Amino acid sequence: MHMTCLPVGLRRPMGLIIFCLVWNVSAAQQPLEPTPETALGPEYSSDAQATTRLWAPGDPGQRLHLRGRVLASTGQPIAGAQVQVWQADGAGAYHDDRYRATFPSGEDGGFRLTTALPGQYWGAKHIHVVVMHPDYAPLPTRILFKGDPYLDEAVHGDLAVSLEEVHMEGSPVLLGGVELVMRPLNGN
Ligand SMILES: [Fe+2]
Repeated sequence: MHMTCLPVGLRRPMGLIIFCLVWNVSAAQQPLEPTPETALGPEYSSDAQATTRLWAPGDPGQRLHLRGRVLASTGQPIAGAQVQVWQADGAGAYHDDRYRATFPSGEDGGFRLTTALPGQYWGAKHIHVVVMHPDYAPLPTRILFKGDPYLDEAVHGDLAVSLEEVHMEGSPVLLGGVELVMRPLNGN
C-alpha cells in the first residue's frame, strides 16, 4: 500500500510516527465500492493471449500504458486474480486474434498493460475487462476514458480513467491508472 504521510501540524517525531501508523491502518481497512459491472458484450471470447503487451510497433493509434490494481471491497489487494481484457485496436477494429490478453494480478494486486488507446467503436472508447478469482464474484466491466465526447459521465463516470500524455524515448505515450474492486463471495 503506497501512502503519503504528511506531517501536517505535528512537530514531534513520536507524534508523526503514531499519526502515520493510524493513517495507514485506517486507510488499509477502508471499504471500497465494488466496481460497477457491465455486460460482456458481443466481442467477448474466451480466447486470449497470455501477455501484458498488446501494442506492437506500427499499430494504429496511440500507445497506452495502463497501471491497474485488483482490490477487494474490504480494501485489501487481491493477488493472483486472473484479468482478461479485450478491445478494439487503435483504429476502432476488433480482431479475433489480437488485442485480447489474459494475465494474473501480482502480489500487491497490481498489473501493467501496454496496449493502444482503443479507437471509436459503438459509443465511448472502451477496454473490456473481466476479473476472476475463486473467492470473489466475477467482475465483468469496462475501462472508459475521461474527456471522451461519447462518454456519458452520469451513467459511466465511475468507470472512466484520466489519461496523461508523456514522451518516452521520443514517442508520445498515454498513461492511465485503474482500480478494479471485487466483491467477496462470502458477502463481506
Ligand atoms: Fe466493445
